[in-house]
Amino acid sequence: MTPDTNECWILGVESSCDETALALLRTRADGSELLSERLASQTPLHSRYGGVVPEVAARAHSETLPLLAAEVLAEARQQAKAPERKPDLVAATLGPGLVGGLAAGAVFARALSWAWNARFMAINHLAAHALSPRFAGEVAFPYFLLLVSGGHCQLVAVLSPTHFRVYGETLDDAAGEVFDKVARSLGFPWPGGPHLAQAAESFAEAAGGHKPALAEMEKQKYFGLPRVFLKQTQDSEGNPQFPFSFSGLKTATVRQAQKLQQTSNGQDLRAGLAFAFESRVVEQLVRQSEAALKVFLYQESAALQAKPTPPVLAVAGGVGANHALRRGLADLAAKHGLAFCPPTPSLCSDNAVMIAHLAAERLAQATPSNSNSQEEKEEQLPVRPRWPLRA
Ligand code: KG4
Ligand code: ZN
Repeated sequence: MTPDTNECWILGVESSCDETALALLRTRADGSELLSERLASQTPLHSRYGGVVPEVAARAHSETLPLLAAEVLAEARQQAKAPERKPDLVAATLGPGLVGGLAAGAVFARALSWAWNARFMAINHLAAHALSPRFAGEVAFPYFLLLVSGGHCQLVAVLSPTHFRVYGETLDDAAGEVFDKVARSLGFPWPGGPHLAQAAESFAEAAGGHKPALAEMEKQKYFGLPRVFLKQTQDSEGNPQFPFSFSGLKTATVRQAQKLQQTSNGQDLRAGLAFAFESRVVEQLVRQSEAALKVFLYQESAALQAKPTPPVLAVAGGVGANHALRRGLADLAAKHGLAFCPPTPSLCSDNAVMIAHLAAERLAQATPSNSNSQEEKEEQLPVRPRWPLRA
């Protein structure tokens, strides 16, 4: 921190899966500004295997991190006209994720923090996704979030930068994982989620819009794909839970895709099946979100009523870029008088801006009494392949 300006430069480092990402954020009393950012996707490396190969990912992170860090720092210095400036804080994802990639990022980030005499901060990747809507816009605590990515699918009350209440998670596959597996069976290149979504959009366009496409699909009985809504359950502490399950839908869709391959007009029906599958995923996500949202609005009513602005429904994670899901959540928000605040698609998927942003939020929240012991603890923390969000 520069004492005269109270300005802090935060380098965010993300390497938990298959994106190597760095971002440099400058924070001041009046807000933060992104000075530079780099993201290297490993998609070309993994696509021939049809999924992320952990060893390949870890090696690629180790090779790419120093190159991107040099570029990010040079650009930030140029942007700020401060050629000698070094970051004051290095924040790195320590979990959850693939252990090799996490270790590569953690070692690199710690080395930089020692070299620069900068503070090190351990970041939970899910918490960073959860806070990303606040980087994108005016979103006050508490807010309700659907976190949907390739590895996670959760309903969360975001109470502060470090406090969360989970209202449900997937019992089997994450939504993005299922998008990718189904997309593969339909012949789309990996990761297939965005390709499948594109095909579903083209089906809707050809039908004259989303609503007519749904009516058309109703006639075709969604290719027999099951509608899955799991009942409310309780966690070990008696809190209501609204779980998801996608594996049955995945298996049914893959079977349909195999059948289509054997028919002469299979290729023509592919976009329809993509639309049917996407609709089934979205309706499950929206329905469970609504059930959990009602509990959230009740539990947080006092805090929400004290605010001059409407409560917020947000989305984060790669699948949060999906148009059909965004439409469904926007409708849900409107129905309950909420504001829908989705981050931009690039802030939804894995990135380092959200890592640096969470560090800035935690800095702003820290009190002098707890910060020293916390800093020492974070210096020592190991990487954590599993690191659930909890209160
Ligand atoms: O958050 P993310 O970048 O990485 C993880 O932390 O998993 O999410 C990546 C996932 C992939 O499964 C990808 O196929 C999916 O998000 N995805 C989409 C769309 N864009 C990305 N799924 C459906 N529709 C999209 N438009
Ligand atoms: Zn992620």
